[in-house]
Amino acid sequence: MKSAARKLLTMGVLACAIGPALAELSDIDKKEAAKLATETCVSCHGPGGRSTAPTFPRLAGQQAAYLETQLKAFRDQTRADPDAIAYMWGMASQLSDNTIAALAEYYSQQHPAAGTARDAAQVTAGREIYEKGIPSQQIPACETCHGKGAVGVGAFPRLAGQHAPYLFKQMLVIQNVLRSAPVMHGIVKDLTPQQMQQLAAYLESL
Ligand code: HEC
Ligand code: HEC
Repeated sequence: MKSAARKLLTMGVLACAIGPALAELSDIDKKEAAKLATETCVSCHGPGGRSTAPTFPRLAGQQAAYLETQLKAFRDQTRADPDAIAYMWGMASQLSDNTIAALAEYYSQQHPAAGTARDAAQVTAGREIYEKGIPSQQIPACETCHGKGAVGVGAFPRLAGQHAPYLFKQMLVIQNVLRSAPVMHGIVKDLTPQQMQQLAAYLESL
């Protein structure tokens, strides 16, 4: 089996394993999550997770399984780029597994923000890579994992409508392993900054 295909299979199994845990939340967990979201998280991530400042990623409509993994990665301090350390380590340190699951469910159920128009040439170039990959550099199509229209599924995050500077920065920190994401590292390790800009522009435009 080719290594990209094997990775895909592993991630598929992982996504299924993470999924069902979300079903057992109590009303208390859900209330706690809604209170945190509307009183605390809102100050950076915006109402319903539709932030306007690009430093703060949009959470609305994000995949629940992905959100859960990230909140645990902040709490376990394995997602360790400077903004994660400065903003999210403290925020996540006191969250229980149940509150994390309830926050993940809360944001996954919010309606996503609309995309933002971007430079047409960059959008076209980014779309080409997103849908077809770069065969000459052995970079697979992003669509294989992140889905058609970049809406994500399970452990594969939604990227559509996310702030371009945030997406660009995440590709950089995954490339230089400040953020540990082994599957994505293999994908972005050979992307040039220009290609990352094009991808980020396309994704924000969706
Ligand atoms: C003081 C500002 C601030 C507050 C308050 C805050 N966050 Fe964040 N959050 C950030 C920043 C900045 C990032 C991006 C970190 C990075 O660049 O790696 C982030 C990233 C995240 C991510 C990762 C998103 C992704 O696409 O990978 C999740 C999930 C998240 N925050 C959830 C929450 C939740 C839930 C709360 C409330 C309990 C919260 N945040 C409160 C600033 C904040
Ligand atoms: C083999 C599956 C796979 C492919 C192909 C793939 N990704 Fe990912 N991507 C992932 C996974 C899994 C994550 C979540 C990593 C984690 O849990 O921290 C991710 C995360 C990301 C993130 C971080 C999102 C956030 O909210 O912080 C970005 C940006 C991203 N991918 C962009 C891309 C782009 C651009 C491509 C194509 C060049 C691509 N991905 C191809 C699996 C994939």
